[in-house]
Amino acid sequence: MTAKAIRGTYLTFTGDPFMAPMKDVMKVEEDGILLLADGKITDMGPAEEMLQRIPEGVPVTEYRDSVIMAGFIDSHVHYAQTQIIGAYGEQLIEWLNNYTFIAEQQFANKDHASEVAEVFLREQLRAGTTTVSTFGTVYPGSVDAFFEASERLNMRNICGKVMMDRNAPEALLDTAQSSYDESKALLEKWHGRGRQMYAVTPRFAPTSSPEQLKAAGALWQENPGTFMQTHVSENVNEVAWVKDLYPEHEGYLDVYDKYGLCGERALFGHGIHLTEAELARLSETGGTITHCPTSNFFLGSGYLNVHNARKPERPVNVGLATDLGAGTSFSILQTLNETYKAAQLNGNALSAGHAFYMATQGTAKALKVDDQVGNLDTGKEADVVVLDMKSTPIIDYRMGYAKDFEERLFILMTMGDDRATRATYVAGELMYDRGEKAETGAYATFSLGEQRALAAE
Ligand code: GUN
Ligand code: ZN
Repeated sequence: MTAKAIRGTYLTFTGDPFMAPMKDVMKVEEDGILLLADGKITDMGPAEEMLQRIPEGVPVTEYRDSVIMAGFIDSHVHYAQTQIIGAYGEQLIEWLNNYTFIAEQQFANKDHASEVAEVFLREQLRAGTTTVSTFGTVYPGSVDAFFEASERLNMRNICGKVMMDRNAPEALLDTAQSSYDESKALLEKWHGRGRQMYAVTPRFAPTSSPEQLKAAGALWQENPGTFMQTHVSENVNEVAWVKDLYPEHEGYLDVYDKYGLCGERALFGHGIHLTEAELARLSETGGTITHCPTSNFFLGSGYLNVHNARKPERPVNVGLATDLGAGTSFSILQTLNETYKAAQLNGNALSAGHAFYMATQGTAKALKVDDQVGNLDTGKEADVVVLDMKSTPIIDYRMGYAKDFEERLFILMTMGDDRATRATYVAGELMYDRGEKAETGAYATFSLGEQRALAAE
C-alpha cells in the first residue's frame, strides 16, 4: 500500500470517560493529519507539525466541515437478517418464529449467503462501520460466505456458526456433536486468518440442549483468544422460558456460566433484564453486554440501563450494537440516537463524548480488540471514518446555532445517519467514498506542495 494522509478535525479517546473525567480522555485536534501506510496509522498530529515531516509525494486528502474518528464497531448483528429488517408486529419469540427462522433457511444456499454478505458489508462501510461481530446461520457455508466477503474487503470482523439443536424448525437444527465438529472446523479455518476472528455461537439457551451448551463451552475453552456470542435476558417471556427449560439454574446467566460460557470475550446480546447479582457476576468474569437499543425499542423488549451496567464499583463492559434485523438501522449514529433515548428513560443524559466513546474505543475495549482498532493512535490499524458535519440541509442549518464542538457532535449523533459518512478507510484503503457530488461541503485532494502553501498563507 502506498502511504496517504488525511487532514481535518479528528477525535479520539485515550481512556474511558465512564471512569475518568472527559477532559482527560477525549482528544480533539482541530486541524490534524493522520498518515496511513501499510494498513496502519504510522504518524499523526497537528497539521502544521505533520506538514513538516510527512514524506514528499504523499497525497493529502483534506476533509473540511467533518470529523475524523476510528471506524465504528457493531458488536452484535445478524448478517443473515438483512432481508427482514422492519418486520411488522411481533415481539421476540413470535418474531423469531414468523420471520427469522424462515429467512435463515435460505442460507442453506451458499450463493444466497454470499450475495447477502456482500450487501451487508457494503452497507456497513457506507455507515462508517469497520468491524462487526455477526451471527452466521446454522449452515457452515453461511460462515464461509461471510468470511470470504470480509476477507476480500480486508475487514477485521468476527463471525460464527449458529449452534441450535431444539425449539426451531427441523431444517435449522444441528446436534451437540455436529455443531461442535462444524464450529471447530470453521474456527480452525478462519480464526486469525488475516483480520478474521471466530466466535463460538450458541444462539441462546432456549434453542440449545444442555449437551450442546456443554459442547460450546468446551470448544470455546479449548481455543483461547476466540469469542463467544449469544443472547441473554432480552425479553421477559424469554427469561421465563429459560426458567422453565433450566429450572435447576440460579438464573439465565447462570445457565451459560455453568457450561463454561462466561469470561473475557464472551459477548451477551441485550442483557436488559439481568439482576444485580448477574451484573456482578458479569463484571467479575469480564464478559460484555452488547447494547442494541434500536432492536430493543423495535421488538418492545425494554431498554438497558447503560450507566448502571458501567457503574465504577462493578463495571460491566458494554459494547454498542445494531442487532439487525431486529435493529432498524445500519447507522451507528442512529444507534447512538436511540442509546441516548434509552439512557434518558433511565434518568441519565448520555453526553456526546460518552456516546462516541461507546461507538469506538469503548466497544473495542469490551471486545478486547483495542490493541488493533478503536482509536486513532500511531501503530493502530487504519480503520477510520470521516463524518460530514453538514450532511443534510437541516443539519447544516442546525449546526449554525451550535456553540461548541461537543454540541456539534451531539447534533451529529441525533440527526445524522449514513448520509453523514463521507469516507471509510479499511486498513488504510479507501473502501467507501461518498464522492464529490455531496449535497454540501468541500471535498478536495491537495498535493503536499499545495498543502504547505495553504499552511503558509
Ligand atoms: N434471541 C435469539 N435469537 C435472536 C435473534 O436472532 N435476534 C434477537 N434480537 N434476539 C434473539
Ligand atoms: Zn441478536
